[in-house]
Amino acid sequence: MDRRTIGIVLNGVTGRMGYRQHLVRSLLAIREGGGLPLRDGTLLWPEPILVGRDDARLRAIADRHGLTEWTTDLGAALARPDVEIYFDAQVTNVREKAIRAAVAAGKHIYTEKPTAGDLAGAVELARLADAAGVKHGVVQDKLFLPGLRKLDRLVKGGFFGRILSIRGEFGYWVFEGDWQPAQRPSWNYRTADGGGITVDMFPHWHYVLEQIFAPVRAVTAHVTTHIPRRWDESGQPYEATADDAAYGIFELDGGVVAQINSSWAVRVYRDELVEFQVDGTEGSAVAGLRNCRIQHRSTTPKPVWNPDLPATEQFREQWQVVPDNEEFRNGFQEQWELFLRHVVEDEPYTWDLWAGARGVQLAELGAQAAREGRRIEVPELGA
Ligand SMILES: NC(=O)c1ccc[n+]([C@@H]2O[C@H](COP(=O)([O-])OP(=O)(O)OC[C@H]3O[C@@H](n4cnc5c(N)ncnc54)[C@H](O)[C@@H]3O)[C@@H](O)[C@H]2O)c1
Repeated sequence: MDRRTIGIVLNGVTGRMGYRQHLVRSLLAIREGGGLPLRDGTLLWPEPILVGRDDARLRAIADRHGLTEWTTDLGAALARPDVEIYFDAQVTNVREKAIRAAVAAGKHIYTEKPTAGDLAGAVELARLADAAGVKHGVVQDKLFLPGLRKLDRLVKGGFFGRILSIRGEFGYWVFEGDWQPAQRPSWNYRTADGGGITVDMFPHWHYVLEQIFAPVRAVTAHVTTHIPRRWDESGQPYEATADDAAYGIFELDGGVVAQINSSWAVRVYRDELVEFQVDGTEGSAVAGLRNCRIQHRSTTPKPVWNPDLPATEQFREQWQVVPDNEEFRNGFQEQWELFLRHVVEDEPYTWDLWAGARGVQLAELGAQAAREGRRIEVPELGA
């Protein structure tokens, strides 16, 4: 079978997301499968060009996976005619500049979220990419999670009747780093480095709400830094300048209210690290990363409030498991494949830099709502 090679610059490939999800679980997984089959029978073969700041770490990754192309010179990588796509999984605050350079070099853009540090920057990237005629996409991995796919199926199938509310609970305890090392990079807790849970998670909540339920029309939020002092990767104490918890209320089209708590200072008493409960007139669902449970109105019990007696109902047992009914693959790989088809076969692709900009917009407005202590309506973004 014919093979067509496509050069892809992977910038930030030594990081958690760049290495594990995008290189190993996506592009190398496509190669392990023999390449991505195209409509004309050709196999698309991704050729990663690893880019980063540390030559030795890039070389180690290349050696580990039998790759031959790596460099610390982004300009040189972008100048290569065999490179068609630029992918960015760097820390957030250096992304915008690198994407601008890649657009100027005429490369198609695929990137982690948030696409830029602020809305103006995110919109400008989308405009520049459109003007240059390059294709663009933003990672929206949560949409591909099995739990949320099942939830989406319930919405599309009309299970809920009229949807009333969504309550999301995301988070876990991120260790401060003194007596046990932190399990997230320290830049996440410094505003100057692009950290903060609002800027990190509101873009995710934006596409989850917009694409599974309805567009977000207004936001109210309380944002705070619960843990003001942390210890970094080398054991040094630092001031945590970024927010580590954001309590948001999002009003959606059709009067649906979504309330989502995001926190790195909460201990988990849930089944999964993120869970959404959706209540509708006909039924309710609780969806996590993998699982989804439902309760139909016909099987809804009638609890009676009486604090004088111990609860007799086993509430969790009154829900029914939604079956998989399909095989769920790694969401990052699935989205990469869709983007590659968009680039080489012109297949439609909706998760572009404009969608990314709407996510950044919600984060920015959420932070503003918190700062000013008020509800803020979300204006439409013009192209
Ligand atoms: N889609 C998701 O679910 C998801 C999850 C986590 C993080 N992210 C996003 O992915 C990006 C990377 O996050 P991560 O958790 O992998 O971080 P990380 O710290 O593990 O990796 C960051 C990468 O950027 C590089 N880097 C660090 N400082 C840099 C600088 N000053 N200049 C250039 N490169 C620099 C590092 O070498 C590393 O390769 C962030 O933008 C984050 O918002 C997305």
